[in-house]
This record gives sequence, C-alpha cells and structure tokens, in this order.
Amino acid sequence: MKLVQVMSQYKAALLSVVIAFSAFANAGSVEDAIAERIKPVGSVCVAGDDCAKGLLLAAAGPKSGEEVYNQSCLACHSSGAAGAPKFRNAGDWTARLAAGLDTVYANAIGGIGAMPAKGLCMSCSDDEIKAAIDHMIEGL
Ligand code: HEC
Repeated sequence: MKLVQVMSQYKAALLSVVIAFSAFANAGSVEDAIAERIKPVGSVCVAGDDCAKGLLLAAAGPKSGEEVYNQSCLACHSSGAAGAPKFRNAGDWTARLAAGLDTVYANAIGGIGAMPAKGLCMSCSDDEIKAAIDHMIEGL
C-alpha cells in the first residue's frame, strides 16, 4: 500500500470517528429539543407552574379601576373628547357628582350622551366600571 493511500484511509477513518462522536455528543440536546416540540399542548402549562402565572392573572378576579380606565376610558377621558369629563379634573366633575355617585355610576354603565354604555368595555362588570370611575374622580 502506498503511503498516500494509507494517509487517505486514515483520514477517512478519523473523520467518521469525529462524526460519530459529535452525533453522540449532540444526541441528548436533539432529543430534548424534539421532546420539547412534540409534547402535548395540555402539558405545556398547568396551574401552579411558573408559565401559568400570566394565564391565572388574566382569569383571576376583577380588574383594578386603573386597569379598566387605561384600557377602556382613557381614550376619551384623558383629553375630554366629545365633552367627556376629564381625568381628575374637578371643574368637569363637580356638577355631575352633585347628582350623586349612584347616578354617575348608572349613567356610565348604561351610557349617557356620547358616552357609550360601559365605555364599550362589555366584558367589564358593573363593579369594574365603578372602580374605573372611582379612579377617575379620586381626590376630587
Ligand atoms: C367614546 C368616548 C368615551 C369612552 C371610551 C368613555 N367615555 Fe365616559 N363619557 C364620555 C362622554 C362624551 C361623556 C359625557 C356624556 C354626557 O354627559 O353627555 C362621558 C361621561 C362619563 C361619566 C359621567 C356620567 C355622568 O353621570 O355625568 C362617567 C362616570 C364616565 N363617562 C365613565 C366612563 C368610564 C368608567 C369609562 C371606561 C370604562 C368611560 N367613561 C369611557 C365619553 C367616553
């Protein structure tokens, strides 16, 4: 056998050892990655897992007045669009509040003038709307 042939056979053998070794070294992580990708959807997030915290938060209890305000009321009530009484602006609220808080609550829940019922937050409970109003008039 010529030296050149020996060398090329030796290289081929070495190459296959390297390939086999790297496949072996990667096997664990490839299997993990596949298991991660094919695991059933239902087991991805279960109550109590860290990953379920956001879901529980979304499902948990009423939204705060501030959250409701920011999501559903701010668009009109921060600028006073269409004559909406502005956020914590005493001049805009005093006359309305003189009618009594229950009337103000009821007007917001049922709608009044250009103010749509519940500010269009149809998923909001009456209590969440009331909390948003409390947030808007806090300190007045
Ligand atoms: C599309 C604009 C718009 C959105 C969104 C909106 N409002 Fe209003 N709101 C108004 C306008 C305009 C008025 C004044 C209506 C009138 O007196 O004719 C008003 C009035 C009110 C009043 C005073 C009611 C009264 O008795 O005088 C309350 C309370 C109120 N809004 C609460 C809310 C709350 C809470 C939200 C969010 C959940 C909200 N609004 C979202 C436009 C809006």
